Amino acid sequence: MNVLSKNALLFILFLGSAACSAQPIVPFPYTVEKEVLADTAAVVSAHPLATQTGLDILRRGGTAVDAAVAVQFALAVVYPQAGNIGGGGFLLYRDKAGKAAALDFREKAPAAATETMFQDSSGKVLPNKSRFGIFACGVPGTVDGMWEAHRKYGRLPWGQLLQPAIDLAERGYQITEQEAKQLNEEKIAFIKNCKITPSFVKMQAWEPGDWLIQKDLAQTLRRIAGEGREGFYGGGTAILILLEMSKQHGLITEADLQNYHSVWRKPLEFDWRGVHILSMPPPSSGGLLLQQMLGMLGTQDLKSMGFHSAAAIHLMAEVERRAFADRAEHMGDPDFWKVPAKGLADPAYLSSRMADFDPQKATRSKTLKAGQPKESDETTHFSIVDAEGNAVSVTTTLNDAYGSRVVVSGGGFILNNEMDDFSAKPGAPNLYGAIGGKANAVAGNKRPLSSMTPTIVTRDGKLSLVVGTPGGTTIPTSVFQVLLNVYAFDLPLREAVHNKRFHHQWLPDAIQIEENAFSEELIPALEAMGHTVTPRSPIGRVEAIFREPGSGKLRAVADYRGDDAAGGY
Ligand code: GLY
Repeated sequence: MNVLSKNALLFILFLGSAACSAQPIVPFPYTVEKEVLADTAAVVSAHPLATQTGLDILRRGGTAVDAAVAVQFALAVVYPQAGNIGGGGFLLYRDKAGKAAALDFREKAPAAATETMFQDSSGKVLPNKSRFGIFACGVPGTVDGMWEAHRKYGRLPWGQLLQPAIDLAERGYQITEQEAKQLNEEKIAFIKNCKITPSFVKMQAWEPGDWLIQKDLAQTLRRIAGEGREGFYGGGTAILILLEMSKQHGLITEADLQNYHSVWRKPLEFDWRGVHILSMPPPSSGGLLLQQMLGMLGTQDLKSMGFHSAAAIHLMAEVERRAFADRAEHMGDPDFWKVPAKGLADPAYLSSRMADFDPQKATRSKTLKAGQPKESDETTHFSIVDAEGNAVSVTTTLNDAYGSRVVVSGGGFILNNEMDDFSAKPGAPNLYGAIGGKANAVAGNKRPLSSMTPTIVTRDGKLSLVVGTPGGTTIPTSVFQVLLNVYAFDLPLREAVHNKRFHHQWLPDAIQIEENAFSEELIPALEAMGHTVTPRSPIGRVEAIFREPGSGKLRAVADYRGDDAAGGY
């Protein structure tokens, strides 16, 4: 805590709040394009202003990674529920020559974290402690991740990439109906968890079209623009984070900040029915679950079963159930736990997992255990393809919408609640209802298991699809279903993304479906097989770019489920 010195106080006094009047950046309500067909380059993200920022960078000659950096920082301003600098994520990159790289900028547990920190003295789980407030926060990875990606694959100057985000934070932007509703819902949680009233809280209710101005965040972004990585993990921003920890008795220390480093990992790669799939390896479970689910389908012809037919949904739900049972037992941070990735993806193992599959009858999750392989909202996603054909797929998060609801006083940014992605105790569900065991127990410096699945698909060595989505544990099953929609059911991209989705995650033992997802006959047909079918809120917000096989044009589709916007030129 020695960083909290006299200099810190001077720094706090220096924090500016330059006055600036709100001026429209683009007309409100925004024009939201859900689908574009582009000749050269495309961006799809959760917010029209972030999509526009990415396109501007690409037009100025930036690479896909330059655009990704600019979009990430823009989302930290215009999509505060998940776009972030206080969280983390995963970036998957494939260059025009086919070389791929995967960057893990997932948050880490503070060094002082312990396996039982979310339990009381009798071992009972304290669920709110991992979800709200200072103990929910992992050491953020986003700024280091963007810095590292830019260092390796960027072309335009770093500061130039942050300027749009600084301007959006300083001048403000007009919030949409969804944003107004969400900010109103979170008002009490922000007041409870913040030491000073953050810009997300307003006396009266927020209305669509209101300006959200974030001057503290603009200052933080200026420090990052000027000092790079050190502008967050050191200097003034670190002082503000440590002051917050000190005021709220949190665990993150100066050493935790200094020691945070994102990690380049080998992308998970596999072939499936004529395409080649690149995705994220552990500490995300996403890529491995995708590989398992696609593998467990074997040679079954889904198209002949029919899109959203009882037979197809039953098969897909059974595959999802089995993969999630394996997740709970075997998957965790590979730097702390030996994940039997090869065994879990082995074709013989995957077909043995389906040996008890009955095409007429649901398996009961309580009788289905994880296999023994031989071997050893809230989140957000954006997809980008640049003019040279380089592709980036990024999923990034604070975990829950608005993370821990702790806004760093004077820093203007929200800290994540990624500690909830650990297993607080074997068998205890996290906020997504997912359970885990030893593999994903809390430990100092460990990364919590993720479900994020940024994915890139190639066909005949050429880029075919860039895809991903938010949605916690529904992420891998949403990506799985979009891949099947495109490559097995041959649906146009818009339908592949916009069609209703469902989800099975082993426990709870139910097929979760979006409202009005299935026809009236379908639900009784699934129930007759022994499935429980439960309606739920929308699943995922998929952002996809598909390279048309004939023309090579880029079809970009943004999910209808939010303010998500596609753009291209
Ligand atoms: N926080 C959601 C995930 O990483 O899967």
